Amino acid sequence: MAKIKHLLPDHHLSREAPLPTCSDMIQDMHNDSLTILVLYYSRHGATRKLAELIAQGIESVPGCDARLRTVPAISPVCEASAPAIPETGAPYVEVEDLHDCAALAIGSPTRFGNMAAPMKYFWDNTSAAWLSGALCGKPACLFTATGSMHGGQESTLLSMMLPLLHHGMLLLGLPYTEADLMLTETGGSPYGASHFAGSDGKRAISAEEKRLCLALGRRLATTALQLARGKND
Ligand SMILES: Cc1cc2nc3c(=O)[nH]c(=O)nc-3n(C[C@H](O)[C@H](O)[C@H](O)COP(=O)(O)O)c2cc1C
Repeated sequence: MAKIKHLLPDHHLSREAPLPTCSDMIQDMHNDSLTILVLYYSRHGATRKLAELIAQGIESVPGCDARLRTVPAISPVCEASAPAIPETGAPYVEVEDLHDCAALAIGSPTRFGNMAAPMKYFWDNTSAAWLSGALCGKPACLFTATGSMHGGQESTLLSMMLPLLHHGMLLLGLPYTEADLMLTETGGSPYGASHFAGSDGKRAISAEEKRLCLALGRRLATTALQLARGKND
């Protein structure tokens, strides 16, 4: 299915310019589908599985396409560079993906209670997108995986909210109308989707964790559609 392209006119490239609205976004659409970016970092695959479930939830909403992207690993050796195309998983994110998307889900493994450095490094290089307001007014949600049960899922989800708030995004969590939030004995929180992968990273995603990922993807997509339609009325 065709994706939304060139959503931001050139005049949005100055800080004084009016911020982009959903009307701007849908004005240039060549079809009626919204592109929703699912951006993740995953070293051992647990966070990637969550990203794929969230994408599934997004695509269950008619009129929404998920675009899966990842960020490169980083290295203290400055000569080291990532291959142009990742060996596994989604393609690397590009600045255009931030402009193109109508909504964003970001996910990272928990690293000492925080997002992993490659995801933080990505956001530390988004000044141009911040200046242009590329993400301002768009909805966003978060997901993470941990090795231990109480190892910082919630703090990681909260840490990933900070750059998104600076970008002017509208943050979505999971409401307690999702029964699985009360039933889960592993991941899933009002701050976003999560998974307790275990110390060896091999625990299966539980039924509750899975349903909460799907619900979060659906919620993000539905909200993006409602915003687009509301701005266009
Ligand atoms: C440097 C480092 C720090 C970590 N810190 C935590 C932590 O604070 N809490 C926790 O539960 N797990 C921690 N872990 C485990 C990862 O969060 C866990 O293995 C996660 O599921 C990996 O996701 P991935 O499979 O997407 O790479 C850490 C792992 C590494 C390598």
